[in-house]
Amino acid sequence: MPSPSPRVGGPWNDFIHRLRCLRGKLVARILFSERLNTWVYPTPEPAAEPTTDERYRDFNRSYFAQFYEQEKMLADQPRMDFYHAAIARHIQPGARVIDLGTGTGILAAFASRRGAAQVYAIDHSVVLEHAKTLAAHNRIENVEFISTHSKDLKLDAPVDVILHEQMGDYLFDEDMVANITDLRDRLLKPGGLILPARFELFCEPVKIRDSRFVPHIWDMNVHGIDYSCMDRERPQDPHYYHIPAADLDYVDYLLSQPSPVLTIDLQTLQPADLPKELRFTRTITRSGRFDGYVVYFRAMVDDDLSLNSSPLDPGRATNWGYRILRTDRDFLTEGDVIDITLTIGNWPEVTSWRWKHVKAAR
Ligand SMILES: C[S@@+](CC[C@H](N)C(=O)[O-])C[C@H]1O[C@@H](n2cnc3c(N)ncnc32)[C@H](O)[C@@H]1O
Repeated sequence: MPSPSPRVGGPWNDFIHRLRCLRGKLVARILFSERLNTWVYPTPEPAAEPTTDERYRDFNRSYFAQFYEQEKMLADQPRMDFYHAAIARHIQPGARVIDLGTGTGILAAFASRRGAAQVYAIDHSVVLEHAKTLAAHNRIENVEFISTHSKDLKLDAPVDVILHEQMGDYLFDEDMVANITDLRDRLLKPGGLILPARFELFCEPVKIRDSRFVPHIWDMNVHGIDYSCMDRERPQDPHYYHIPAADLDYVDYLLSQPSPVLTIDLQTLQPADLPKELRFTRTITRSGRFDGYVVYFRAMVDDDLSLNSSPLDPGRATNWGYRILRTDRDFLTEGDVIDITLTIGNWPEVTSWRWKHVKAAR
């Protein structure tokens, strides 16, 4: 039996029904006619692709908005002791201070308790809202919280001190040089202080502990199955050649005496003066498999006040990881000398780093 017609109800209802059908056909026509469709529903202009800089800013903002990231930094005792001592020694009562990237506001709070007359605590992440709450809770005075990226910060008068913690695992990968030198050139008094300003970068031949070592796939032979043909399939993705690590047990030992491959002073550095190529030599003091270069840094305030992320220092700052730049399999013997070249496309973009070594004649 057919279902009752919805059109029961006489000529008026019939007329309404026809009108609805007509509207339906019109809409279908528009939807299926490309030309009419684009006229009635114009396609929005495609959004411009974010630049590398914008992408990095977005990543940085959301990364530091997470409580756990802030917790790791605050729980890093060598780090917090270093900053507390640096501020106590070098921020004079009455100073005007910028705290670039204040996070939870901890360094701004130290500066305020030290007697700073005014602290501009800036951050581009929503973590700034927590910094305000914490400052109120701890009765921290003389701090103005400003939600901004440092490049957009404007102040009426220059400051005495720029305080910051902008060091990445590879030292340069949180845009420290660009951010600090920009603020320095625009908003630091002549003779003003950057805390911290001096840094050393290390890039040391390393052996990974055997129990943790993972060879390149083309160096593998698993129960007689030979992977050497994979040599032809080497990954193009530069990330493959970087090992991020935080676990101190991973590094067995350094093959030579560490020595900084680069030293910078943010008080005077011009970003364009950063070298594009570093050449350095290492004399092997302990034989072993050469698995890569371990990259870490040291920040220095005074001769007796520094902070480092070396995986071999038990007093290291705990919240930084370190990085290993993988090399092709090699075995070095005590007395070998290797000449190393580190080429840098763009310092903050670690995937633009390239490295190679040659053994010098003994
Ligand atoms: C490593 S955390 C340090 C937080 C805090 N100063 C501390 O010592 O615990 C860096 C902070 O800087 C912020 N930041 C990074 N670059 C920035 C920039 N150019 N302008 C403003 N904030 C920035 C991040 O959102 C993050 O909260």
